[in-house]
Amino acid sequence: MKGMNMSGQNMGHMSSSGGNLLPESALPKNLPLPELQSLGNTSSRPGYFFSFLEAKPVTLQLTPEVSTEFWAYNDQIPGPAIEVFEGDTVQITLKNSLPQPTTIHWHGLPVPPDQDGNPQDEVLPGASHTYRFTLPEGSAGTYWYHPHGHETVAEQAFRGLAGVFIVKPKRDPLADIPVQNWLMSDLKLAADGQIAPNSMMDWMNGREGQFVLINGAHQPQITINTATRARLWNACSGRYLNLALSDADIYLIGTDGGRLEQPHKLTSLLLTPGERAEILIVPKKSTQVSLKALAYDRGKMGRHAPEVTRDLASVVMTSAALPTLPEKLTTLPQLGEATATKTLEYTETMAMGNGQHGMNFLINGKKHDMNRIDLTSKVGEVEEWEIFNNSHMDHNFHLHGTQFTVVNYQLDGRTRAPDYIGHKDTINLRPYERVRIKMVQNHKGLRMYHCHILEHETLGMMGQLNVV
Ligand code: C2O
Ligand code: CU
Ligand code: CU
Repeated sequence: MKGMNMSGQNMGHMSSSGGNLLPESALPKNLPLPELQSLGNTSSRPGYFFSFLEAKPVTLQLTPEVSTEFWAYNDQIPGPAIEVFEGDTVQITLKNSLPQPTTIHWHGLPVPPDQDGNPQDEVLPGASHTYRFTLPEGSAGTYWYHPHGHETVAEQAFRGLAGVFIVKPKRDPLADIPVQNWLMSDLKLAADGQIAPNSMMDWMNGREGQFVLINGAHQPQITINTATRARLWNACSGRYLNLALSDADIYLIGTDGGRLEQPHKLTSLLLTPGERAEILIVPKKSTQVSLKALAYDRGKMGRHAPEVTRDLASVVMTSAALPTLPEKLTTLPQLGEATATKTLEYTETMAMGNGQHGMNFLINGKKHDMNRIDLTSKVGEVEEWEIFNNSHMDHNFHLHGTQFTVVNYQLDGRTRAPDYIGHKDTINLRPYERVRIKMVQNHKGLRMYHCHILEHETLGMMGQLNVV
């Protein structure tokens, strides 16, 4: 594993904290939430979205004192927002102007495997590649895109390569409720303003920057004038976001791959790396509060201080009434009985060879190998997978190419049903928890599954599914 293993040069200096960082006060806060910039469509034919993304280094002046080199799509942090409708044909040409190979992976979308930016399909520096796919009916949801090269995902993502991909329903019963997009990411800047390399603790626990950004802005000010929908993305490498907003009623109305049938009232929402949600916010009074990420203990290694609650944004709200909602927000298809099963187990082992001090993150005892097929599924067959997190820290699980639903969770000998049913492609597992999920794959070819703490994925907590 050149470059990315615990002893490689990407470990930087082996300090456990990551060295001198820019203080949090170096970036301004409370600026109005920026809107995500949309990617333009060069096709005028209805039902077609044609466009271009260039991945390349760009230096952005964050303040008069702080200038930072990012790797960005079309010079934008976050990357341009792609907004299409279900049924659309999408054709996007990627030009790779990075100093290393890359791909674009369409996280959560049911695109054919050869269009999904697998590590086997890297686009070399200087080269271009066109992705093309048609989004099936029923695929409306909140997705995103990011690189998926071989052992480079963590670095390319923390340097800035990620953007949202929204698939809108042709007829949206909630279209009259205004919607905001909140892409949450984090940024770790060294004292000189440059993006800090991963420390050894980042590789073990998943990277967490000192800055949490929404739509690229540090602790922005969000304005909510009426009952409002918000689409949320956790695009952080390793940070868990246990979101809470006081003085408002919050309803979960959509998960990764689309709407729930019924709104589900929330007191807080745990969004782990890679997960998305659509919520409805109904302010109870006119006030100003903080959007918070509540303290959440995910069992990080080598941590001595307790987790703390963080402010992510200040929210100025005007009280509003609950809008009238349809009887059913959507109708979720029923998959029927599973006729095949698979079991996966996450483990960690110490990696102490060759002067290395770190961890191996494994699935069924193995590290990812590009040349090994770990599992085989049949097109169209309903499967139930049991994933067992046999470790003392939280990991999440992401499967490419399809959406799944949770059957149940099992922890400490107790089985519990999910609180709601929704389409998911990424799901968290508490230490020693088992989750059973049900899904079907509709395309032949190679699919990845992995922990979406990107450092764990990059270090090999990933497997390969061949769909035949
Ligand atoms: Cu968000 Cu394998 O990906
Ligand atoms: Cu994915
Ligand atoms: Cu993990």
